[in-house]
Amino acid sequence: MNEAVTIRDLTHQYPDGTVSLEDVSLTVHGGERLAIVGQNGAGKTTLFLHLNGSIRSPLDNVLVFGESVRSMPIEERIQKVGVVFQDPDDQLFMPTLYDDVAFGPINMGLSRDEVDRRVREALKTVGLSGFEDRVPHHMSYGEKKRAALAAVLSMEPRILVLDEPTANLDPKNRALLIDLINRLNKEKGITTIVAMHDVNAVSHLADRVVVLNTTIVADGDAHSIFSDSKLLKENNLEAPEAYKLFRIMGCYGYACCNALPLSVADAPAALDASLEENGGAISLRRDGRTAEELREVFERFEY
Ligand SMILES: Nc1ncnc2c1ncn2[C@@H]1O[C@H](COP(=O)(O)OP(=O)(O)O)[C@@H](O)[C@H]1O
Ligand SMILES: [Mg+2]
Repeated sequence: MNEAVTIRDLTHQYPDGTVSLEDVSLTVHGGERLAIVGQNGAGKTTLFLHLNGSIRSPLDNVLVFGESVRSMPIEERIQKVGVVFQDPDDQLFMPTLYDDVAFGPINMGLSRDEVDRRVREALKTVGLSGFEDRVPHHMSYGEKKRAALAAVLSMEPRILVLDEPTANLDPKNRALLIDLINRLNKEKGITTIVAMHDVNAVSHLADRVVVLNTTIVADGDAHSIFSDSKLLKENNLEAPEAYKLFRIMGCYGYACCNALPLSVADAPAALDASLEENGGAISLRRDGRTAEELREVFERFEY
């Protein structure tokens, strides 16, 4: 598989001496859906700023499709890797939405027709057709979030990096954005890398999860990461609520299929599998071990 992103032994120190990244090595393959999870200050945003060269490593150790970001001209950097910042107000600064989404393609030197085509397509993709003349500043937070994504999509990047995409969104807008990101990955083959705090949404957006805590401390599928209570505690992270609830059911004798669900959406499949394995009925019981097992689950998974 082709390497979309290659990072080798990346260390970064801010001018005030804060070491934000230390010996980070990471390979992301084309078409992957990766989530980077980590507590506040873990270095997620700093890592993302290296991917489009907003922060430039002095070494050739951040590569995009095999090419060092350090030596790429800015147009090429921002065209290859679209970074959607956490706060859409950092991304939208023009008087109209059209201008914001056209800004990148115009700077790439594309023809007016091509710019226009890209703006309309990007707005259509994010469900903001008809919003061309709106003032971004006056749009709702959910709309702004999708507008910021459109401003990046108009560059037609092969890699999409989103910093906390679901943070502060209402449920409907969160579901919309998750669906949108997944469609871009599935239908257009765009590699998607998200930094997330919202552990309940991680399994919706990623097949692979990397835990960052200045350096990379774990890398695996979502199940292996979220079932590792020691890893989670050590890194100030938590397991998804659905997973914790199923662990509690386990204390009452619930025997599940091997992988407990990581989201409410996955719960019916787990229950169906259990029913099939157990002859069509699930029975719960409380016995001498239940209290002790519950104590252990709470100790391991709750703060
Ligand atoms: N501009 C800056 N100057 C100095 N320190 C910074 C700056 N930006 C971030 N940091 C520090 O670098 C570390 C990583 O921050 P950041 O990448 O924002 O983490 P995250 O996105 O995971 O919350 C933190 O300790 C933070 O305080
Ligand atoms: Mg951050």
